[in-house]
Order: sequence, then structure tokens, then C-alpha cells
Amino acid sequence: MTGTTTTGGAGGGAGGAAWQVPAGLVEGLLGALPPARREVFALRVERWWEDLRSGLAGLHAPDVADDLAARLLRLAAGACARRPDDLHRLDQARTLRPDWFQSPRAVGYAAYTERFAGTLAGVAGRLDHLGELGVTYLHLMPLLRPREGDSDGGYAVADYRAVREDLGDVEDLRALASALRARGTSLVLDLVLNHVAREHAWARAARAGDERYRRYFHVFADRELPDAYERTLPEVFPDFAPGNFTFDEELGGWVWTTFNSFQWDLDWSNPEVLAEFAEVVLFLAELGVEVLRLDAVAFLWKRMGTNCQNQPEVHSVVQVLRALTRIACPAVLLKAEAIVAPDDLVHYLGRGRHHGRVSDLAYHNTLMVQVWSSLAAQDVRLAAQALRALPTVPTTTAWITYARCHDDIGWAVSDADAAAVGLDGHAHRSFLSDWYSGAFEGSTARGLVFQENPATGDRRISGTCADLVGLTAAREALAAGTGDPRARAGLEAEVDAALARHLLAHAVVFAWGGIPVVWSGDEVAAPGDPDWAADPAHAADNRWAHRPRLDERDLAAARDPASVPGRALAGLRHLARTRAGLPHLHASVAADVLEPSDPGVLAFVRRHPLGELLCLFNVTGSWRPFPGHRVEELGLAGAVDALSGEPAPWGGDGQLWLAPWRAVWLHRPVEEVRPPAP
Ligand code: GLC
Repeated sequence: MTGTTTTGGAGGGAGGAAWQVPAGLVEGLLGALPPARREVFALRVERWWEDLRSGLAGLHAPDVADDLAARLLRLAAGACARRPDDLHRLDQARTLRPDWFQSPRAVGYAAYTERFAGTLAGVAGRLDHLGELGVTYLHLMPLLRPREGDSDGGYAVADYRAVREDLGDVEDLRALASALRARGTSLVLDLVLNHVAREHAWARAARAGDERYRRYFHVFADRELPDAYERTLPEVFPDFAPGNFTFDEELGGWVWTTFNSFQWDLDWSNPEVLAEFAEVVLFLAELGVEVLRLDAVAFLWKRMGTNCQNQPEVHSVVQVLRALTRIACPAVLLKAEAIVAPDDLVHYLGRGRHHGRVSDLAYHNTLMVQVWSSLAAQDVRLAAQALRALPTVPTTTAWITYARCHDDIGWAVSDADAAAVGLDGHAHRSFLSDWYSGAFEGSTARGLVFQENPATGDRRISGTCADLVGLTAAREALAAGTGDPRARAGLEAEVDAALARHLLAHAVVFAWGGIPVVWSGDEVAAPGDPDWAADPAHAADNRWAHRPRLDERDLAAARDPASVPGRALAGLRHLARTRAGLPHLHASVAADVLEPSDPGVLAFVRRHPLGELLCLFNVTGSWRPFPGHRVEELGLAGAVDALSGEPAPWGGDGQLWLAPWRAVWLHRPVEEVRPPAP
């Protein structure tokens, strides 16, 4: 095994050097492993060494990289030796089915543990609810021990090896991961790797003057370099955390703080930082965490004169972490949280020399933004332009698709895409903020403006899906009551239309391919939390408005099929079930967005060897046509709408006619072929 030249695989190695596993390195580690694991470990090293070593070559000088590679391999061998039998079996099963996460059966759900189920143990009581939605992926928001007080929703971690005390302990986490796994659901946790809390042991040691730990951070004696960096750095939280550096008295200097002043950016050019995180990754994997969300990964590497995002070294870091997990615990996936411009985004799934070698999953921020843009403008031309312009990604990866998440929505609409469809980028972004904050005449959206930046004119938006589609406002108007039956019918129609928009947004997300993730509360069309500011630690951050609590009353209300929560839940379940039966929605099959024939209809095709699936979405409040000849060209003349089970909605004029806010997924049923069971 050792001493042989390996040249990468999985489409990787494009132009990369060939790296040799140093003679004797693997043999020296095998003794640490039980006999039954030795061969598999050696084979994995043979397969992934190239990725590990070439990734390190992108970060460090050869001698440093050699040492670090050997060190990481020792950690991997230890982790592989300790890996519980059931997880080892999962590793083997997933190695045999590497597309396991690309299945159309995959459905995700994301929630704050305390807001969803009280505690980690309480999540067990919610498994049936998740099961009904077909959930195979559960993202529990940061739950490792945060700093006290404001912790940016747990994204300021004080200890990566302990669990938030009010939620449970490490053993509860292990038990939950195992209970989820027994149901075929993967536990997803955040790996916050750009920064730690000011109270983390490394930061405390740095503050106490320990040189080794000061080198974990970017510390500056004066403002000279910070000022030079600031010239090209944007601000993430211009409102409550302006600037990117914080003066710390104890440290006696300025420390890099991209986010809040209590979140200290780590210096990833220090090899010790990578080695520390390798241990954290392996620790979480050993607990049974199956997907690691690489929080704010775009920011890891700093370079003077740039915006310090998306630097090539970021991808090298991820490549190293992925090779490490593939060797030690290949059941584990990495998911990039990079909310960046479309051209930068695709690199997180691997392009060029990182093709097939970085994250398995990444958030499809562009799709999310374009769903909201289309619904507000009742026009899909910008969406079609932006989505068509997106470069292809490796067929071995999957997008995380979502209508919204725990964060605000930033209008990542490029000026070039806007110009290509005759829009002014700035004006359109401004329109979207006006629309979703309800400031635009005719809008019933209830979003809140987040981080208004007077310097750039940028305004982001907070709000639940129900708030943004106008459902919250429509329900309130109906509940306020009216004696006039005609007025009441009008209000009911407004509720129906808003609910249809809510389901339409999710229909796009469920049809794109990848893992559609529902944000807790949206399955019952929950309104925003009116008391979001009651907790003083949250008062400055209105993202808490769209992180509502989901309690028994909400779930009970959803049991009434005629209620709005009940209809929302039934609608989402139906999307999940329908999707599971469509092999075309395997994530390896790209969504091919068609040139719009009507500005109100988003159309994409998934060309699967079993036949085409044509997905149509009417984003307007009126009936809209889709040309019959395009349906015929795709061989779908006699097709069935998988969502309604009805034949395609042909009008008498040879066109398809789509009802307002309606999604249609046309296919020719392939009864005999079904996606394999997970
Ligand atoms: C990510 C999280 C966000 C957090 C930031 C800093 O973007 O999604 O909630 O504020 O990272 O950790």
C-alpha cells in the first residue's frame, strides 16, 4: 500500500501533482487498529492521500505540510480504531452507496433544539412529526457550549467538546444521534471554524499572554494593518458590530472579529489551528454526527487587498478536512455554508483542481434569493438568467435547497444578471427590501429590515416564510373579523393565495434536486415571533423574529386538516412524498432552466435516463400559459402532473394553462423503476 504513487480519483487530480505516501507511514499506524480495520484503513489512505497532501500543499511549505499530513493520519488512525462498530458499518455501507445523500427521498429540517423540543432528550418526542415530513436530515442549530449572554445563536463557541447545559450533555447527544440513525435520519451539526468565542480556552490563553495561543488569532499591535485590510473589507453586521477588528484590553491589541466583537477569527495559516479542528471533527464524528456544517467557511483565509472571502486556500482547508473524514469516518459529509455570489458559490462544491474534493453539500443561496425575487416581482426572467448563468457543479454533490433559514435574506443579485434582463441591480435589491418589509405599496409582507447599511444602501430582511408571503397579514385580517360576507370571502381568498405562495416557494425548493431543508415552523406556516426582542441577548438582532418556538399547540392546530397550519403541513408532506417517487430528482441530475416563454412561469427540466421531468411554476396571481410545442418536444404530451395526479393542464388552444401560484411537475410515470430504498 505504502510507497506507491497515487494520483487521486473521483474526477480529481486535474493537473495536480502525484503524491507518495511516505514509506512506512501507514504500516506504522496499523498496529493501533483492530485487525479487521487495518486493510480498510490502508485502502482509504491509498485512495485519499493525494487529496490530503495536495490540499496541504495549497496551504503550507513542503516540510510543514509533510509533518501535518503525518500528524493528521495518526489522528485518523486513532479515530478509526475508536469508531464504534455501528458507525464503522455505516462507513462501509456508505462507501458502497456513495450517492446516499443524493436520493430524492432526502428531506431536511432545521431547528433550534430548545425552540423545537426543549432539550436534546425532548427531540425524541418529535421524531414522529419529523417522520411524517419524511425527514432524513436534521440540522440542530449550534448546541456546543457557547459563551454566556449573547452568543450569536450559539455561533460563539466556548467549548467544542461540551454541550449547552440546558439542552443536555454529550451522552444525550450521542443517544440522539443513534436514535435518529435508527430511523434513517442523519444528525447535522455546525462546525464553527472561522472563529471562537472570546471565552474559549484558546482565546483565554491568548489574553493571558500565552504566545502559542496568540498565534491562533490575528492580533495587531496598532491600527496600521487593520486599517489597510479595512480598505477592501465589507462589514457583515454594520449595524450592531461595525468594522472587522476589536481592541481588547487584556490582549493589548486589535483582534480580527469579522462578526461580533466576541467572535475572534482564527488564523488558519497557523497549522496548529487545522490540527485542533481535525480533532474536533473526529470527536463529533465519534458521537455520531453525520454532517458537519462548515459555518462561515468563506471567511477562513485572509489576504490583504481582497474582501478576505473565497480565497483559494479556503478550498484547500476543506479538501484536507474532507480527506481526513473520508479516511477516518467516511459516513460523514461536509456542508459548506458560503452565502456568497453565484460565481464564488459553485467552487464550494468543487471546480477546477478542487473538483470532487471539497464539500459534498452547499447551500443554494442563489435559488433561495431568486424564489423571493420571482414572487415579489411576479416575474421569473431574472431568476432564469441567474440560474442559467450558474456554472455546473460535480454530479457527486448536492445542493441544500431552502426557502429561508435562521439567517436574514441578503439580496445576492448580481448587477450583471440584473442588467441582462433590463433591471438596475441596486434598484431591484432595494425593491426587494421594500417589498418584503411591507413598505412597497400593495405588499402584504411582514419582514423586518436587518442591518441597514447607509454606506452601501444595503438592507437585508428577516421573517418567516408566512410573514414574507403575506400569510401572516392575511390571517390577521381574517381573524380581525368582518360582518360583510363578501369582504370575508375576499380575505379568505387572500389567505388561500398566500398559502399557495408558501407552497409554491417550497415546490421550487423540493424540485431543484439536492436536499430540501424546511425551517422549523414553516411546515405549519408559523408567523414570526412577536416577542423576539424580549430576551436582552437577542434584542439587537431581529433574526430572532424568524426563529419561532414550535410547541404542542402548534402541532395540535396542524392536526386540523382545514386549518392553515394543517394545510401547510399537508402540502409539505405531499411535496416530500411526491418527490420521493421521482427518480429524476436524484441530485446528480441537473436542473436545466428554460428560457422563459412567459415572464410569470419558471420552467426547468431534469433530463434523466428514465425520461424527462418538466417542472413549471406560475409565480403570478393570474392564469399563465406554457407553450404546448415545448411540452411535445420533451416527449411529455401525454404526461401526468406528479403533484396533482391529473393529466397535464392542456387548454383548448394547444397550450398548458397554469392556475395562479401553481406548481406542476410533468412526467411520464415509470412504474417499474423506483429509486432504491435508502
Ligand atoms: C453563519 C451563521 C450566522 C452567524 C455567522 C457567524 O453565517 O449562519 O447565523 O451569525 O455564521 O457565525
